[in-house]
Amino acid sequence: MIDTLREFRVLAGSVCLPLMIVCGLASAQPPAKKSPNGFKPLPAPAQPANVVKLTPIQQLGKNIFFDEKLSTPVGYSCATCHIPATGFTGPSSDVNQVAGPVPGVISGRFGKRKPQAVSYSAFSPVGPFYNADIDVWMGGNFWDGRATSNATQARMPFLDPNEMANSSVGPMPPHAGGFSAIVASRLSVRPYTPLFKTVFGAHVFQTMSDADIYSLATFAIAAFEASAEVNQFSSKFDASKYGTPPSNRYKFTASEVRGHDLFFGKAQCSACHTSSTLDPVLALTGGRDAFSMYCYANIGVPRNPGNPFYAMTDRAHNPFGCNPDGAFFIDLGLAGNPNPTPSGARFMNQRPGDIVDFRGLFKAPSVRNVDKRPSPDFVKSFMHNGVFKSLPQVVHFYNKRNIAVNSIGHELSFDLRVGPPRGYFPLFPPPEILDNVQNAAGLSPADANDDVATNGQVGNLGLSPQEEADIVNFLKALTDGFVKPTY
Ligand code: HEC
Ligand code: HEC
Repeated sequence: MIDTLREFRVLAGSVCLPLMIVCGLASAQPPAKKSPNGFKPLPAPAQPANVVKLTPIQQLGKNIFFDEKLSTPVGYSCATCHIPATGFTGPSSDVNQVAGPVPGVISGRFGKRKPQAVSYSAFSPVGPFYNADIDVWMGGNFWDGRATSNATQARMPFLDPNEMANSSVGPMPPHAGGFSAIVASRLSVRPYTPLFKTVFGAHVFQTMSDADIYSLATFAIAAFEASAEVNQFSSKFDASKYGTPPSNRYKFTASEVRGHDLFFGKAQCSACHTSSTLDPVLALTGGRDAFSMYCYANIGVPRNPGNPFYAMTDRAHNPFGCNPDGAFFIDLGLAGNPNPTPSGARFMNQRPGDIVDFRGLFKAPSVRNVDKRPSPDFVKSFMHNGVFKSLPQVVHFYNKRNIAVNSIGHELSFDLRVGPPRGYFPLFPPPEILDNVQNAAGLSPADANDDVATNGQVGNLGLSPQEEADIVNFLKALTDGFVKPTY
């Protein structure tokens, strides 16, 4: 309890950041050389040995993924922000502890979000699309579904001014399309260029345009991201009787069994974090659970006061990557996604956020590898903005998001839209966006009625401390690398 209150103060205490200079007023400033929190661009990791045998196109994709010569200035690869040792998400414990979003190749620049884990993202169905059976939007890639697939996704980091910072030929801002001529031409002079020709044709660099070469590179990246090296299905879970096929190479502890049963039962994590009911996903995974529905929801994540994006206000030197709203920036999620879905549906009309139904919705990631880290003391950050720093904190949030406590330690649940009664203080800061919050009323699973299937999901689960710990232990059993990859 005391810990939670302290956490709340730490989180809430810095919610009111000083008003930053708004983009545009900063034109007389020198280039932003210093990062808001002192973090410099990160080193690109060396390309590791193969874990499984890769096909030629997967190998090519891996070579490109780990190539730090494809940014401007050179120095950043995809793997800089997506290292294998964390499940292909952020590489720096220090950055995670303070921020969540990772520095880009140009000093002082940060994107607004934490890198999603690339592992298991390849199984997200092409989307987003509306699944009428369960009344949710699903599929696509990125936290806000901006990309329809991993191949489309791979077009963007090369051009993102806060990531690999190549300039775009074609529409700006780059996420509207476009390609990098620099990347295309560098691909013709890299050590793996012969492999590029083997895969795509001996004369590919003579016969194809830069735009086409760029697209081919993204197909190769997507092939690597779909490979068994990135999606290993090699956790304790996979080696246990719960795996597909069931196995006895690992026996769950009593706590892990309880965690499993809570995840798929009372705690209802499986409402958004299982693919066991999604036939198109199971077809790709050989029947194995990818531990995501690849659906969108607003679970009421608070803003992250440590997000360096709040200070990214310099429009003069970063016109397409700056944050015009400064400290007032709100991450709208799906409602800020400017791109149409494959079926032509739109999540915004004129302005980001103008369709209320999509405000605050983010993609539910796979929880495989959420505990994968290079060493036990390595800090990971969780959620789209990295606000949470440990799995116990995440599970506590799911359990008690709607709980407030008074001075003698009495707890009660409250409706997030109304606030707690006088004398009671919420255990967690408020959601960044109140629209569409799952179970905003804070009904417990027992109070929930069958009319609204989502009631009782998230916020007031009534879990004991032991049950919270059991769920964390279960999540830890989803870390790849326990056995040889089986996929
Ligand atoms: C500077 C850090 C950075 C670099 C470099 C970077 N990424 Fe990312 N990556 C991110 C962030 C942040 C997100 C989430 C962005 C969002 O949702 O708006 C992300 C999201 C993704 C996703 C989406 C996963 C999902 O679940 O939908 C994939 C796939 C991915 N990156 C692959 C790549 C590839 C391929 C490259 C190189 C071409 C790359 N990344 C370079 C930071 C980075
Ligand atoms: C209503 C759907 C829903 C339910 C139910 C749900 N989640 Fe989530 N989960 C999400 C979404 C959406 C996100 C991303 C939210 C964001 O970043 O704003 C998420 C994020 C997470 C993350 C962070 C992953 C990362 O890479 O940062 C973890 C861990 C997690 N959930 C575990 C759980 C557990 C454990 C439960 C059950 C106690 C649960 N979830 C129940 C939808 C759900």
